Amino acid sequence: MSETLVSLWQRSRDALIAAGVDSPVLDARLLLEAGAGVSRTDIVTDPRRELTAAQVAAVEALIARRAKREPVSHITGRKAFWTLDLAVSAAVLTPRPETEFVVDAALKALPPSRPARVLDLGVGSGAILLAVLAERDLASGIGLDLSPDALAVARGNAAALKLDNRVEFHLGGWDAPIAERFDLVLSNPPYIPTAEIDTLAPEVAVHEPRLALDGGRDGLDAYRAITARLPALLKPGGVFAFEVGKGQAPAVEALAGAQGLSLDAAALDLAGIARVVSGRLPD
Ligand SMILES: C[S@@+](CC[C@H](N)C(=O)[O-])C[C@H]1O[C@@H](n2cnc3c(N)ncnc32)[C@H](O)[C@@H]1O
Repeated sequence: MSETLVSLWQRSRDALIAAGVDSPVLDARLLLEAGAGVSRTDIVTDPRRELTAAQVAAVEALIARRAKREPVSHITGRKAFWTLDLAVSAAVLTPRPETEFVVDAALKALPPSRPARVLDLGVGSGAILLAVLAERDLASGIGLDLSPDALAVARGNAAALKLDNRVEFHLGGWDAPIAERFDLVLSNPPYIPTAEIDTLAPEVAVHEPRLALDGGRDGLDAYRAITARLPALLKPGGVFAFEVGKGQAPAVEALAGAQGLSLDAAALDLAGIARVVSGRLPD
């Protein structure tokens, strides 16, 4: 019997269930689209379309990779974030939906009518900074990262989105020389306690870059380094917004408060977890 879009979707889903993948229906569809070169609309409107042997083989190869717990984003090389379709690779953290709450906090702080300078510490794929610049025509900024390979991905995304005329990328650590004060400092730094990394799903523990995950013994190393610099990086009245891990908001608020920064109420994500710690440098 020949293979159709719907039969291959179902067979792929079953293979991913057997492999312990936690979103088998969605992942099977995304890899069916990528491997067979069809759209979601094709699958919905023409599910009994027959596939060629080459299409079936291409999809099966992608499903085999996913069954080994490689993330879909690494297999397709793409990830949707905010309004953007970003290129991603094994060199960057795959942008997460909860990180969109940092973008939300940033946009609340940036009126569209005012020019603004934005700094993103640990820019990775460029997700946060590029999402903000895409929404604010008068904003420009700097993305810093210790990983040259991540910066190459971010530069590519900025160029593809035609935002490269408003963004610079700097290679360096949290202590990199930055002789400027910003209207907005954003960060989603590594925040997983070192000992927890290997307990996470293989998609994260094996396939995401350690540099993007490892927050040191208690997960707070990056926040200690970044908050210490905030008073010198922000203009008076300038705003910061940081993503934090589950249960970390009070500790990060304490670190920022100790630097004389005022704090807003932490923003909750869709799971009700305090996800974004934000505030400002008093005028
Ligand atoms: C959790 S990822 C966030 C990436 C991206 N901003 C996002 O939200 O999807 C953290 C990023 O910080 C970078 N990083 C880790 N340690 C760093 C350090 N000491 N200095 C600068 N960047 C660092 C990593 O390379 C990684 O790209």
